[in-house]
Amino acid sequence: MCGIVGYLGKQEKTISILITGLKALEYRGYDSAGIAYQKNNKIKVIKSVGRLEQLEKKVKLENTVLGIGHTRWATHGKACTTNSHPHQSGNITLVHNGIIENYIELKQMLEKKGYQFQTETDTEVAAAFIDDALKSSKNMIKALKKAKEKLKGSYAFAIFNDLEPDTLYAMKKESPLVLGKTEEELFLASDPMAISSYTKEICYLNEGSIVKLEKNKVTLIEEKDTRPIWKTLNIENCNNGKNGYAHYMLKEIYEQPDVIYNIINPFLKDPEMEFKKLPNFSKYKKIQIVACGSAYHTGLVGKWMIETYASIPVEVEIASEYRYKKVFYDKKTLVIVVSQSGETADTLASLRKANKDHIDTLALVNVITSTIAREAKYILPLKAGSEIAVATTKAYLAQLTLFSLITLKLKLEQSSNMEEIIPLLSAFQKLPLKIKKLLENLKTKDIASKIYKHNDIFFLGRSIDYAICMEASLKLKEISYIHSEAYAAGELKHGTISLIEEKTPVLSLVTDTSIQEKTISNIKEVKARGAYSIVVTNQKLEECDYCDDFIIVPSTEPLFQPILNIIPFQLLAYEIALLRGCDIDKPKNLAKSVTVE
Ligand code: G6P
Repeated sequence: MCGIVGYLGKQEKTISILITGLKALEYRGYDSAGIAYQKNNKIKVIKSVGRLEQLEKKVKLENTVLGIGHTRWATHGKACTTNSHPHQSGNITLVHNGIIENYIELKQMLEKKGYQFQTETDTEVAAAFIDDALKSSKNMIKALKKAKEKLKGSYAFAIFNDLEPDTLYAMKKESPLVLGKTEEELFLASDPMAISSYTKEICYLNEGSIVKLEKNKVTLIEEKDTRPIWKTLNIENCNNGKNGYAHYMLKEIYEQPDVIYNIINPFLKDPEMEFKKLPNFSKYKKIQIVACGSAYHTGLVGKWMIETYASIPVEVEIASEYRYKKVFYDKKTLVIVVSQSGETADTLASLRKANKDHIDTLALVNVITSTIAREAKYILPLKAGSEIAVATTKAYLAQLTLFSLITLKLKLEQSSNMEEIIPLLSAFQKLPLKIKKLLENLKTKDIASKIYKHNDIFFLGRSIDYAICMEASLKLKEISYIHSEAYAAGELKHGTISLIEEKTPVLSLVTDTSIQEKTISNIKEVKARGAYSIVVTNQKLEECDYCDDFIIVPSTEPLFQPILNIIPFQLLAYEIALLRGCDIDKPKNLAKSVTVE
């Protein structure tokens, strides 16, 4: 999603810092980009649609001390050069992340005052509003305070005006923004990753902050405190390249054994101590898991784990629904938010809703410097390292691993019997090796070559297998653009079976032995209608006339089986997308960090 970089510092470095910073944000997903800088009392704005390489072709490495840059993920108005940022109005030049919800009303008001608009964006309206406020107040801080009062929605702005050379302003509400500094330079970024190769000294801006940056001087106008609080950036989450893999997604799939190992290793060494470090769950009678996308799918697996093994009722909610609905929780409810980025707008809003009602919150989050990590009562870090591919794999697996540990802790609290947990931990210990071997032996390339040209692919499963199918289907559609649906196997015949035609690929996951026979009947139903049936299983299936292809996953303790089951689907989606020539790490229209609702 949109990214911001701002720089005030050394003449010769500005342009390259803006471009490098934007490149570091590319993984978030964008469709156009631009920069603006001050040069000999003039403002230069350069924009381009498409990838950053297009922008780079237009940019000259001129000397200038001040610049701002932006990658845009279109919300208001199509992806085109005119709509891309920076935007200008009167004396104001700015870049913006977020959505100004009342922009139509403000636009009408500004048009009456004579402002004319060139773009379809809400951002240009914000620029005009600030310009108008600056005209009347003659003071930029006052103008920004007025904007803060009147602009509804979410924003992170990096702004400069023609009247104050070498001065950069910023303002934020509900969209992330950080400052960075070295002895002679000041930085602004929507994500510390954009500036982490230049500085590790970071200050996270609080909600409602307005900042003025001048040479070696930071003035912070906040609601509570006026001194910036600088922290040293933990570089753990910085991108360290593709490491020889063709794509980040492939690298991240292959990193999964290490990700699991990093999480569980401390528990293997000293289980008593490590389980004690997890929050005490004994007071909770109900759990609500709230998340978006793949993180929502891990919530479904978490629900199955906790309900099946610890008998505590769990509700799983899509964050964009949860934040606006009537929610039934009380002091005995734990709200768990799950997020790789820790910045997903709807998940953050859901967390804030629970926090506001004084309900205990726990975040399962990868980016430990993120807003969600900072605002949740308890946090469990995913320790997955930076995930760059838009389609998540290793963070998803880390979330499943943490839900397994939460389930074990709940069991432990209920029985106080570590003896029960030890055999499960030893099964856990074997998972990294099992995943490694599975990845070595998978024949997904062959299956991919048989099905990649199809327009529709279906996934079937029951119970926990269905939850994994939902993620499998999302992975496939995200990166290959093939229409795909996951169905609870028994539900298919209530409509969707009419879409099954001769050779339609249907992938069924059959690992839940308790309802294996039922799923097999459903597979037979689609096979009878001509489906090309691929069965993913850890079982020896006796009669095989209902499947055209098999993928075998190794068995483990049923609690951990879902962790193995997703692996072939991740790789299959990758192979299919590869054969279709898709931009695997940066799929069209998608963003890694969804900071607007
Ligand atoms: C986007 C990403 C998904 C991710 C979802 C939630 O849609 O493309 O891969 O699952 O956001 O993101 P989060 O960072 O909250 O896990």
